[in-house]
Amino acid sequence: MDGLAISEEFLQELRERIDIETVISPYVNLRRRGRLMTGLCPFHNEKTPSFTVYTDSQSFYCFGCGVGGEIITFIRRIENLDFVEAVKTLAQQAGMQMPEDGYDDSLAKQRAKILAANREAAKFFNETLMGPKGKVAAKYLADRGVTPAIITRFGLGCAPDMWDGLLNHMRQKGYSAQDLVEANLANKSTKEDRTNIFDNFRNRLMIPIIDLRGNVIAFGGRVLDDSKPKYVNTSDTFVYKKSQAVFALNFAKNGNNGKLILAEGYMDVIAMHQAGFTNAIACLGTALTSEQAQLISRYASEVVLAYDSDAAGQEATKKSITVLNRTGIKIRVLSLSGGKDPDEILKKQGGRARFQNLLDGAANDIEYKLLREREKFDTATPDGKLNFLKAVVPVIARLQGAIERDIYASSLAQELSVDKEAIMLQVKEHDKKMGRVWDKERFKAAKRELMGYGDKINLQKGGKTRATKAEEVLITSLLNNPDFYKKLSEKIGPDDFLTDFNKRLYELICTRLRDGKCIELTLLSGSFTAEEMSKITALYVKGSEISNTLEECEDCIAVLAEERDSLNVVNPAELSDEEFSKLFQKKDQ
Ligand code: UTP
Ligand code: MN
Repeated sequence: MDGLAISEEFLQELRERIDIETVISPYVNLRRRGRLMTGLCPFHNEKTPSFTVYTDSQSFYCFGCGVGGEIITFIRRIENLDFVEAVKTLAQQAGMQMPEDGYDDSLAKQRAKILAANREAAKFFNETLMGPKGKVAAKYLADRGVTPAIITRFGLGCAPDMWDGLLNHMRQKGYSAQDLVEANLANKSTKEDRTNIFDNFRNRLMIPIIDLRGNVIAFGGRVLDDSKPKYVNTSDTFVYKKSQAVFALNFAKNGNNGKLILAEGYMDVIAMHQAGFTNAIACLGTALTSEQAQLISRYASEVVLAYDSDAAGQEATKKSITVLNRTGIKIRVLSLSGGKDPDEILKKQGGRARFQNLLDGAANDIEYKLLREREKFDTATPDGKLNFLKAVVPVIARLQGAIERDIYASSLAQELSVDKEAIMLQVKEHDKKMGRVWDKERFKAAKRELMGYGDKINLQKGGKTRATKAEEVLITSLLNNPDFYKKLSEKIGPDDFLTDFNKRLYELICTRLRDGKCIELTLLSGSFTAEEMSKITALYVKGSEISNTLEECEDCIAVLAEERDSLNVVNPAELSDEEFSKLFQKKDQ
């Protein structure tokens, strides 16, 4: 994709027509503070606003997580779009006609093609399920008690027991083998110079995974017997990232009263929806990722974890609690004793009423952790009591609120008939110890940052901190004072820069200024990734921290020259004798 192919005039007009407040306010509750606006950052979870919108420069920057940019970068990030797609979205909002040619949108076209192929495949699988080739799968679903209404709602289907069932159908519809491989609907193998293309899903129950806009982005395919592997899933494609998708969120996001039930399996979710628990979702595989947690927290304030009751499910519960805790969302945990998973409880172990009971009685995450620890010890013995207390002190210490701590300490004291103050003393000891550990880690992190190793965009910063800082001040100064260009260009050029990223950025800014083009962030954004734009915006925003004078720039130019010379110092061991003595002659002069 080449973002620069969109014309300069078009971007300029877009920037003038759409105000950044209009773009951001559907996602963030902004409060005006003079010429700035602030709000809670949509890209990380926070309780006090560090997300800042600058109306003057039409840019945004979050001082909490370092994400920044302008309108196009904002849409790129929040809607997960590439540059051209983001421009299209904004152009639509502004009522501007995108030029049909003149930009390369091959990636967007490729995505659209995969989505269309997936939709056609879902239709084919569903029709197959209803037809003669779907008898086994239809019986399988009926045996599991899945109703026709739910089959329709979830768009379930089946893949025929053939190597080319879908392939043949899709070829008739005009899709190439290449399209199908890209959508991961077909696989490719090469044996003895012969390339073979065959259906990825064969003889399986097919479950479409649908995103929040209603696109079919992937499939899960379950075997119809006990053979392995139980599921074949679409691997990552241009339209699907497993780590970012949440199954059934498209159905569950509305009318969930701020609550979602998170299960492990497709079949659990389907069973729950059938039983009327239409706020059920699954995270596809057991380990919940932070991206999934972030997405979930956008649509709910509370999550009830309803994982399988086996050891793997409980392990996954613990991990998910940690990941979800970072979003600040309220967590409760269902205890599924007597049933392996929600599907089994609903179908065999008491049905809807029992499940509702379990939901109502779901423990919060602290209670859940205490419960798990309690199972490990025999609290009837003094030894067991002591070890149990030792294990739960860190759980209580993790609570931030004094009242919350008091409540759990009190109930534990009562349960074990020990003094509450004794428990609180232990908790405070733990605080102190953790304080020391955290201080150490913070110190280490600060040191790394200072050494430049935390910079994910300018990877050469580490070890070249002084030069990088000087380069950054030059860039910041020029971004904020384009009129410095003439003076600066007499003294320094991009080739004098020591780190590649800064060099590329400085070169682009200089070329634009030389050609009389403006250097607003929106107009730069086509040449950089969304992550790079964060860094550039950070540099720009720092303009208020530096003096913004030509003298300061001259100091930086001197620093760069010094650093460059020190890099040119050669290792004497690698010189020939002649070169070595020349080095001394030079010094003596
Ligand atoms: P389960 O084995 O619990 O599957 O795996 P399930 O969906 O509850 O199926 P039933 O009830 O046994 O029919 C939980 C989830 O883990 C993923 C799937 O997303 C599944 O829904 N999984 C499991 C795979 O991706 N591949 C596998 O081979 C197994
Ligand atoms: Mn299961």
